[in-house]
Amino acid sequence: METRVLPFTEDTIVQTVQLILAGEPVAVPTETVYGLAADATNAAAVARIYEAKGRPSFNPLIVHVPDLAAAQAIGDFNEDALALANEHWPGPLTLVVALRAGAGIASLVTAGLTTVGLRVPAHPAMQALLRAAGRPLAAPSANASGSISPTRAHHVLKSLGGRVPLIIDGGATERGIESTIVAATGGPLRLLRPGPIEIDAEQDAGATIEAPGQLPSHYAPSKPLRLDARQAGGDEFLIGFGKIDGNANLSVRSDLVEAAARLFDLLHQADASAKPRIAIAPVPQDGLGKAINDRLRRAAAGSQ
Ligand code: TXA
Ligand code: MG
Repeated sequence: METRVLPFTEDTIVQTVQLILAGEPVAVPTETVYGLAADATNAAAVARIYEAKGRPSFNPLIVHVPDLAAAQAIGDFNEDALALANEHWPGPLTLVVALRAGAGIASLVTAGLTTVGLRVPAHPAMQALLRAAGRPLAAPSANASGSISPTRAHHVLKSLGGRVPLIIDGGATERGIESTIVAATGGPLRLLRPGPIEIDAEQDAGATIEAPGQLPSHYAPSKPLRLDARQAGGDEFLIGFGKIDGNANLSVRSDLVEAAARLFDLLHQADASAKPRIAIAPVPQDGLGKAINDRLRRAAAGSQ
């Protein structure tokens, strides 16, 4: 794939919107770091973010919106969240709030959680793109997995060149570090990630403990999960892949983008079924398969 680097102009935004609506991830400057943005309502587009980054795990992604009204259509803002939003948006603050039912956000964005991270960025390029696209955009930092966050277009090109169709060049980012993340989901505010904005909140211990599958920020099904299953036991809901069919199938045509896009929906479906156990067919350990298998291993460990 050829990667074009275009200056931030009106025409560039028009071209970028076409790519976003076609389900492609595009690199865009924000005031913190460059983000790799995709339509948050399109699960396959979000899966392509992970594919481009080569990220070996799924974390919940931040959803970017143009203003507070757009954020409130997606998340449920309590008084604390509203106060912080009014004080700091647009700006480098992400608020984790309860996800509204029917908000239309792909479950891969929240990694299956019932909460969502929302941010109204201040950068004119990201603002212009959000308004022109008319879609919420999921965007992690625009770097390959394991490399440092990009603060210039050429950092993105070095890291993701050949893997994304377009980078909008908006010069150096102003802040250079990722947004502050605060959870406002009831009870006291919790600081999930320190950043450019100082917030008077308790640093959340749970956010830093490494307990696979058991972090509060990670969804795991409530039922035992068996991996590498080739057929279902009588009490199991089998999630198939490719030729191994089951009660549902991640991707009949063995497409890993489709499988990633459907992963959390099918885990929720299996969790809600009448069967007391879940089994899942083997998923190849290449490309997006690594992130899928990482999530499944954590879910299996957390469900026993
Ligand atoms: O400055 C930034 O925030 C940049 C720019 C591009 O906006 N974005 C960014 O995204 O840093 P990302 O994907 O690297 O950060 C996502 C982090 C997750 O690792 C998690 O810690 C937190 O945001 N997060 C998002 N949604 C969450 C949720 N529902 N519950 C808990 N944590 C969440
Ligand atoms: Mg990052």
